[in-house]
Amino acid sequence: MDVKAFSALLPQATEQLPRGAFLTAGGAVWNPMTIGWAQFGVVWARPVVTVMVRKSRYTHSLMEQAEVFTVSFPRAKEMGKEIAFCGARSGRDFDKEKEAGLKRLAPRAGGAEAVAGCGIVIECRIVQKQLLDLDTLDPDFRAKYYGDNQALPDGDSHVLYVGEVLAAYEV
Ligand SMILES: Cc1cc2nc3c(=O)[nH]c(=O)nc-3n(C[C@H](O)[C@H](O)[C@H](O)COP(=O)(O)O)c2cc1C
Repeated sequence: MDVKAFSALLPQATEQLPRGAFLTAGGAVWNPMTIGWAQFGVVWARPVVTVMVRKSRYTHSLMEQAEVFTVSFPRAKEMGKEIAFCGARSGRDFDKEKEAGLKRLAPRAGGAEAVAGCGIVIECRIVQKQLLDLDTLDPDFRAKYYGDNQALPDGDSHVLYVGEVLAAYEV
């Protein structure tokens, strides 16, 4: 994937990200999860996207079995209901495809199936993963994002999945 073509999509993608994008893992189960955090960059001489998935998410178990993932970014002010649903309900309890009325979009480069109707799609191959070490995190961030009342008693840390970008495109 060409770095320049990837970079051209980032202003739009990063603007949408805090409002929500959909993460889908490759594999038998298609379960879009809303994400609001990600890293975009160039590492190992190639464009990469890193997504962060807490251990308590159903998506975590799907990502652990996956070789690829895809991030689908809705256009500004679109798909708000779907973002909210996939960010509040778990695929353990709901068939999100059915309940949120989502449709799949076939990948172009071997990534996971994307969410149809989005404006930007980034397909990735998982090349590295690591559990965020809370002992090395800024103490204020740790208290704010991994303090008491998390889904898991150890702070429910995120697993970072680094994906080599296979394809990134406007739909
Ligand atoms: C705007 C928004 C952004 C979110 N970002 C993330 C994220 O980056 N990582 C994460 O683990 N959960 C994030 N969540 C929470 C998950 O989307 C939510 O817990 C979801 O129900 C998990 O679905 P699952 O159990 O089917 O995987 C976010 C939720 C919202 C509403």
